[in-house]
Amino acid sequence: MAKITLSIIKADVGSIGGHIKPSQKLLETVSNYIKEKGRGLIIDYYIGHTGDDIAILTTHKKGVLNPKIHKLCLDAFLTGTKIAKAQGLYGAGQDLLVSAFSGNVKGMGPQVAEMEIEEGPAEPFLMFMADKTEPGAFNLPLYLAFTDPMHCAGLILSPRIKQGFKFVIMDVNYTKTDRIIELVSPEETYDIAALLRDTGRFVVESIFSRASGEQVVSASTTRLHNIAGKYVGKDDPVMLIRTQHNFPATGEILSPYTIGHFVSGFMRGSHNGPLMPVKKNSPISFFDGPPIVSCLAFSVKSGKLTEPVDCFDQPYWDYVRNKVSQKAEEIRKQGFSGAAMLSMSELEYTGVMETLKELEKRFKIRKGR
Ligand code: F6R
Ligand code: MG
Ligand code: MG
Repeated sequence: MAKITLSIIKADVGSIGGHIKPSQKLLETVSNYIKEKGRGLIIDYYIGHTGDDIAILTTHKKGVLNPKIHKLCLDAFLTGTKIAKAQGLYGAGQDLLVSAFSGNVKGMGPQVAEMEIEEGPAEPFLMFMADKTEPGAFNLPLYLAFTDPMHCAGLILSPRIKQGFKFVIMDVNYTKTDRIIELVSPEETYDIAALLRDTGRFVVESIFSRASGEQVVSASTTRLHNIAGKYVGKDDPVMLIRTQHNFPATGEILSPYTIGHFVSGFMRGSHNGPLMPVKKNSPISFFDGPPIVSCLAFSVKSGKLTEPVDCFDQPYWDYVRNKVSQKAEEIRKQGFSGAAMLSMSELEYTGVMETLKELEKRFKIRKGR
């Protein structure tokens, strides 16, 4: 069996009409760059967008964090940025925060999800792309798909899946280097939940099958504000998941997206909103949201990709989208109040801080009481 690597590298390098979607010309520029410069380096590729983010999926034999693969994608985004600037797109190059390339793009701004796999006779996998939200948005759907038989029937029905999974969880507030913990389900499921409830701090980086030792999930963990030290937009994570056989089935992985759980993001990356599963290449609109996620299913053979199947383009998900729209409307009714807007530490637009600083001076202690 041959080893191949699946790599997703994603960035927002500019979009039309605000934070809605990249231009056709920008997408074509990135795509042409990968097609031409990737010759001899990659086996296959797919380029798509979700909201204002462009994701490059490549297959190759170079392993994860390969400098040549990362440089190829970075240069594609830099070339795209020139077009974005020339077209006057909003936020041109906004996710390319660090310019010095030192081997890979992790920590430079783009989101990265990669996995090296032993390609089996049939190799189905899913590519998730989210917009207007943060990496922790995947915490709950991953927890449910990999630990809860209410979503993953395989935990009861398949002896291999019943053996459980190893979760590698990252503390994304620790920026000096990677700070991770490994916890196993089912024994430590409650500990996993205790961490994953804090979506701004603890993020699933990867998951492994305990039956086979194989990696099943790779998710991006980059938090832009931790790199830039200030607000630069939401991170908009990507994720790769292998399915079937030793892993949950595609439908089990998708099942938790029926909830439309509340995640951080939405307008100005500063609100809570329900995560809406959308069709591929969907734009953004209502209140710069709602936070969205798309999912494409592929099969791969000797590194060659099939065409993608758009997992949320099915009548069932229209019904879910309607329900999620209602949730979005409900929380929007309370505007800036309480749970609708994020806590101070997650806001990072300096406006509220500055206002509070000014008002602080006007507070008085009432005398005579
Ligand atoms: C994410 C996204 C938002 C914006 C944020 C900042 O895709 O678009 O997180 O980056 O709303 O917007 P500006 O730059 O308009 O303040
Ligand atoms: Mg954006
Ligand atoms: Mg985005």
